[in-house]
Amino acid sequence: MKYGETAGRDVQTPRDHEPTKPICKVRAHSGRPFTASDSSWCQMFLANPVRAIARAPRPHLLAALGAEGRRRVEAFLPAWRDYRPTPLLALPTLAATLGVGAIHIKDEGQRLGLQSFKALGGAYAVMSLLLDEGARRLGRDLMPADIFSQEMRPIAAAMTVACATDGNHGRSVAAGARLVGCRAVIFLHAGVSQFRAAAIAALGAEIVRVPGDYDDSVAAAAAKAAREGWVVVSDASWDDYEDVPLTVIQGYTVMAGEALDALAVPPTHLFLQAGVGGMAAAVAAYAAQILGPAAPKVIVVEPERAACLLASARAGRPVVIPHNEPTIMAMLDCRAPSLIAWEILASIADGFVTLSEDQATDSMKRLASPLAMDPAVVAGESGGAGLAGFLACLCEPEARAALGLDRHSRILVFNTEGATDPALYSWIVGRSPGEVAGRLADIIAP
Ligand SMILES: Cc1ncc(COP(=O)(O)O)c(C=O)c1O
Repeated sequence: MKYGETAGRDVQTPRDHEPTKPICKVRAHSGRPFTASDSSWCQMFLANPVRAIARAPRPHLLAALGAEGRRRVEAFLPAWRDYRPTPLLALPTLAATLGVGAIHIKDEGQRLGLQSFKALGGAYAVMSLLLDEGARRLGRDLMPADIFSQEMRPIAAAMTVACATDGNHGRSVAAGARLVGCRAVIFLHAGVSQFRAAAIAALGAEIVRVPGDYDDSVAAAAAKAAREGWVVVSDASWDDYEDVPLTVIQGYTVMAGEALDALAVPPTHLFLQAGVGGMAAAVAAYAAQILGPAAPKVIVVEPERAACLLASARAGRPVVIPHNEPTIMAMLDCRAPSLIAWEILASIADGFVTLSEDQATDSMKRLASPLAMDPAVVAGESGGAGLAGFLACLCEPEARAALGLDRHSRILVFNTEGATDPALYSWIVGRSPGEVAGRLADIIAP
């Protein structure tokens, strides 16, 4: 089955996908300082209907996303000259204002110079694949540091990695290829901005523009890679294609681990934005295994225009949703869940919530202009979605009650990207990323 086909997933017709009655609608909540910028909020919270009946994820998936998996990824981190954990920021004023115990946001906009958590996944998968290839060719086990050895150079030079991307994953794959000296060909659909394309090309990758949408770029990458003998490094899995995407999402356990290590008390709730669900699955699986009975509740946050995981939860099986208008949360604009992500989230997620376009931009602005001495965070269009999902659930009584959100709650969200398209960021927020980050520097400066 080819990348981009609907292996293992049912395809929903628009009629199938017509929302059933929303379980609840999110309204601007009087008396709370987070009203939407217009009155068109109409989001949906769905308590996970399949959690109790879903099969447990296969053990090897969980094993890959636990402490040992994280250690494996960390063995490759010295390959990055400038690796350091991203900041975990507390938002005490926002927490007090909203009546919860704590809100922390992990700022992946500062990840490895690539501005998103995706830096941890695709690049690591490229290095890991090259190491496997080297071990196969040289006939012996290799250590991560060996990828830079003399004898690995021709092996790397002969390898081509390819992927389709909305931006961040391709940037990571390109960065990994550049680090180890292999070739990267990145397929971009028409909606990927020129700035994002240039950021990938600047890492030495060849760019192939594909007419159509993300699915078309996925199909084009797979077809070309099959013809040329290239390795497809996808962040989404489908039938018979699991190992590479599992390696990609294994990379994200580092982000989850850094966040949990930095918190004195574990969070009670994780609000995790999802495209194909890989990030949410990796973080949820890691937290569940590390924290056991103290594991937080997991809420998957998606754009209402691209809620393939919520649709899958409602259907009780992975489904492909129909084409919709593009969402400004471009990195979350996915119509089909990754099958391994679905397998994990079906049994671990507590709920699913969708966001309007306004909620996404409202969250970006809120993070850029924080309350009192809370730090400012430069959050891209998809980056602020986790916080927006929390706000959406908090102001909806049914969701709030179902999730037990109260003054004891400790919320952890991830700003999964910085201003990966600075012009768009400035247009939305009304200030440049530099101006917003400057405010952060002002606060930190003695
Ligand atoms: C900034 C950002 N946030 C969230 C996601 C969602 O990750 P996933 O597709 O693994 O669900 C992506 C995916 O590209 C992303 O780039």
